[in-house]
Formats: sequence, C-alpha cells, structure tokens
Amino acid sequence: MKFSLAIGTILLASSATAAVCPISLLKRAGLLNKEDEAAYDAVKADRGAAEDLFHANQKKQSKRAGSVLIGPRSADGLLDLPFGGGLLGGVLQGLTGPLQALDIPVPQPQGLKAIPGDDPSHQFQAPGPTDVRGICPTLNALANHGYISRDGITSFAEAANAVQIGYGFDYPLSVFLSALGLLAGGDLITGKYSIGGADSRVPNTIGPALGLDKHGVFEIDGSITRQDVYFGNNANFILQRWNEYVEIADQNGGLFGASTQAQDKALRYDNSRATNPEFFAGVKWFAVAHAARVFVYQGLPNGTNQDVADYQNIAPFFLNETFPDNWFRRGEPFTLVSTLVEALDLFLQEPRELGGNEGLNNFVPLELDLSTKTPAQLGCFLLENIFDIVPDQVQPAIAANFELFSAFVKGIIAPFFTDDGYFNCDISSFVEPSPNAGIDSNGSVSSSGSPVNGAYPGIGVIAPGSEPS
Ligand code: HEM
Ligand SMILES: *[C@@H]1O[C@H](CO)[C@@H](O)[C@H](O)[C@H]1NC(C)=O
Ligand SMILES: *[C@@H]1O[C@H](CO)[C@@H](O)[C@H](O)[C@H]1NC(C)=O
Ligand SMILES: *[C@@H]1O[C@H](CO)[C@@H](O)[C@H](O)[C@H]1NC(C)=O
Repeated sequence: MKFSLAIGTILLASSATAAVCPISLLKRAGLLNKEDEAAYDAVKADRGAAEDLFHANQKKQSKRAGSVLIGPRSADGLLDLPFGGGLLGGVLQGLTGPLQALDIPVPQPQGLKAIPGDDPSHQFQAPGPTDVRGICPTLNALANHGYISRDGITSFAEAANAVQIGYGFDYPLSVFLSALGLLAGGDLITGKYSIGGADSRVPNTIGPALGLDKHGVFEIDGSITRQDVYFGNNANFILQRWNEYVEIADQNGGLFGASTQAQDKALRYDNSRATNPEFFAGVKWFAVAHAARVFVYQGLPNGTNQDVADYQNIAPFFLNETFPDNWFRRGEPFTLVSTLVEALDLFLQEPRELGGNEGLNNFVPLELDLSTKTPAQLGCFLLENIFDIVPDQVQPAIAANFELFSAFVKGIIAPFFTDDGYFNCDISSFVEPSPNAGIDSNGSVSSSGSPVNGAYPGIGVIAPGSEPS
C-alpha cells in the first residue's frame, strides 16, 4: 500500500516542521481507509514508527520486484556480474570473491527532516589535528557532524548512506557518487577512502590509494572554490573565489541557482584555460564541473524552501563546513537522472569547448560534442568511459587490476543504468585506459586551514552585496 509510505514520509516531515499535517486533514475528512488510519495513529503515537513503516513498505516493494536480478548483460544475453552485485528489488546485492569484504550501501528513509536537528551524536565538532578534510565541502560537513567518520576516513557504504541521510539524495545517486569516490582514490578491497589526500589509515591492498583529492579521476580543474592542482594545493578553500561566486549570485538576485552556476562555470573555465598550461576539460570535467554546481542549488537549500538557494543556506557549507542553523534536507529525494538532465542544461546555458591546454595559448580540442546527446545517452557514455581518463593519468591500482575494477563497476554502478526504464544502456564492455596514459603515483593533499566555524585564517565573513577586497 503506497499510501502508508506517504504517511510515514509526511509525518517525518511534519514532526519536524510542526506544520499542519495533511494526513490529519484527510483523516478528519474521513478519506483514510482502515489500514491507513491505523498506520497514521501508530506514527502519531510514536514518531519512530514512521521509519518502521518506511522499511516495511520497502520490503513489500522488493518482494514484488524482488525476483529479478538486474545488471549488465554480456553479448550472449546472460547477466555479467563476475563478482556479484546487481540490483534486487532496488537494493544492491553483496559482492563475492576478492570483493566480498566490501560493505554495500543500504537505502535510507527519506523525506523532509531537520539535519542535524537535536541529534546529540551529529552536532558540529571542528576537526582535530589528525582528522582530514578535502575538496568536497559537503563531505567535510558530513564529517564535522559525524554522519561519516569524523577523522575523514570513510568508506563506500558509509558515505553513500550519509549522503542519503544528510542531503536527501536518492539511493542510486548516492551509491554512484560514493562509488566514484572509491574509484578516485580508495582501496577497492576494504572500500575505504580518505575524503582528503593520501592517508596511512587507508590500506593500499592492491595499489596506492591516493584519496579523493587526487587529481584526474574525480578532482578536476575549474572548481568553484578550489584552485587547479597545477597551481598547488587543490583542496583548500580559496576565499577570493568564494567572493567572486557571491558577486555572481548578487547579480542574480542573491541566489546561487542555475544562472549563477552557469556563469561561475564559464568564469572558471575561461580563467583556467587562459592561465593554466595544463588545464584539462574532458569528459570527467564535463560531468563533475556541472554536477557539483547542480548540487549547490539542489542539495543545499533549506528543504522547506527548496527553490531558494540563498546566501544564508549556501554560505555555511562553504565557509564553515557545517549545516545552516535550523536546516532541513530535501523532501523529495534528488536523483541521478535529474542530475544529468540539469548538468546538461547548465552546460548549454554557457557552452564551452572540451579539450585541454598543451601549454598556454595552445588549446587542443577533443573531437567530442556532448551537447548533442540526450541525458540518457550521456549517462551511458559516462558509464562506458568511466575508466578512460586520457590524457589525464590513470590510477596505478586501476591500471594494474582492471578486471577487478570492471567487476566492481558491473556489479555496483552499471545496474542503475541497465533495464531501468530510463537509461537502458547496452554496456557489454568498458573503454579501457589508453596504454599511453601515464601512471601517476604522485601524492595528493588534504586541505589545511579549512574554513571551520569562522576559524579560516584571517578572514571576516563577506556579507552578500559587499565588494570583495
Ligand atoms: C560520496 C559522495 C560524494 C563524493 C565522493 C564527492 C566528491 C567530490 C569531489 C571529488 C569534488 C571535487 C570536484 C572538483 O574538483 O571540482 C567535489 C566537489 C563538490 N561537491 Fe562533492 N561529493 C559527494 C557528495 C556531494 C554532495 C551530496 C553534494 C551536495 C549536496 C556535493 C557538492 C559538492 C560541491 C558543491 C563541490 C564543489 C566544491 C568547490 O569546488 O568549491 N558533493 N565533490
Ligand atoms: C528552514 O525553514 C524553517 C521552516 O520554515 C525555518 O524555521 C528555518 O529558519 C529555515 N532555516 C534556514 C537555514 O533557512
Ligand atoms: C609528480 O610531481 C612532480 C613534482 O611536482 C612533477 O614534476 C611530475 O611531473 C609529477 N608526475 C606526474 C606523472 O605527473
Ligand atoms: C561561521 O561561523 C562563525 C563562528 O561561529 C559565525 O560567526 C558565522 O556567522 C558563520 N558563517 C556562516 C556563513 O554561517
């Protein structure tokens, strides 16, 4: 009964907002059937019951669709899951063989909810001397609030679960992001990765795990507030870039919505192309530069006022790496499909050529026009090329263990793109890293002087509307 889920979700929401509960109105109007009324009363008596309802509903759903394992298929039409995985009733199945120790993310209850609310285990604590932070302000905030390990050493499952809980991203999108994080710089066997630079607390079981900040896989040029790796530390928050971002928002009514994002993207691309002799804007740049900016206005506004990406809601994430006071996550989970649709849209608002500098004033375009692809085609293209980061450098571990990494992608990422009614990608193989891609074992850095509750060295907070110095 779908309705019971709705009751659970709405009550989770209304418990937090103290708004008039639409279900109580339905009940008073006599529009609830017996089952729904019982569910309503149970949840009213005990808020925890809403979560039980959610899980019960989920189990029912997975029982219904539960008998069909979904995953990529090989040319002969058989499921191609070398080390397990695949989706059963919308939930990823465990991995086997060398990947069996990897914890699998679990769908979390969703809906409007105060984050962190008054939950005592999720209040802000500034990172201690051995805690690492990095390039993603929102993962930093999750660590500062203990939704992922406060030391900044997280795992595939932990971060995917935390992104659902903290930001209301749906299961496929959260799994996809965390899987990329693991591929970017983690240890595939244990699932651990650092949200900053390389770290001795992450084992190097099959090759060096260089951390999320490692340039070239997920970390790109032309970020919002971080500088290109060519110029040095690519993890630190740069106040001047933030001020320029705020200035663009001011020109757009003080909002960090799509227009602001498209303009900031263009500014960063143009600056990097003009000044960074190693600037590279390939397929990963296309995806990450636009998706990260979509996340600002889809993930960070107050969920009670989802369309208003204002300073009050965006700034605390960047300046203090914390949730705004009295903040609610999204009511409606944000999806992988919407991410691609909106990323493509941002791109088209301020299109820029894909390619890279081979020295200043020597931009070499890629013969690739992604703007003509539909979002579904774009998704399949990204999946097929997930390992092809040429001419950037290949992670040594990926190059040396290609079969293992392919099996992970087949079992964990590809199932969201196959037989799903939207992408329906026909993926029987992945583009392999080009043999002429250099192997780059260079280290990576965590952020230092990360802006934490006003502790960023030497800054006053720039108010909206004021000129940056
Ligand atoms: C496990 C999940 C996630 C992973 C592994 C991840 C990873 C990353 C990485 C590698 C970057 C750097 C990209 C670059 O070089 O520009 C980044 C930046 C960013 N991420 Fe995340 N991210 C995750 C979840 C999220 C979520 C849930 C949000 C928002 C709700 C978000 C918002 C952003 C933003 C706004 C930036 C740009 C920061 C800047 O350039 O100043 N991320 N993330
Ligand atoms: C979020 O919305 C709630 C309900 O309208 C409000 O009380 C709260 O102050 C808002 N928080 C922020 C950070 O905008
Ligand atoms: C590694 O870093 C050094 C020093 O920064 C640099 O000269 C070298 O080119 C880098 N290696 C690769 C493969 O990028
Ligand atoms: C950051 O934290 C400081 C210290 O608690 C506070 O004064 C400031 O208002 C915060 N800034 C934002 C944008 O939340």
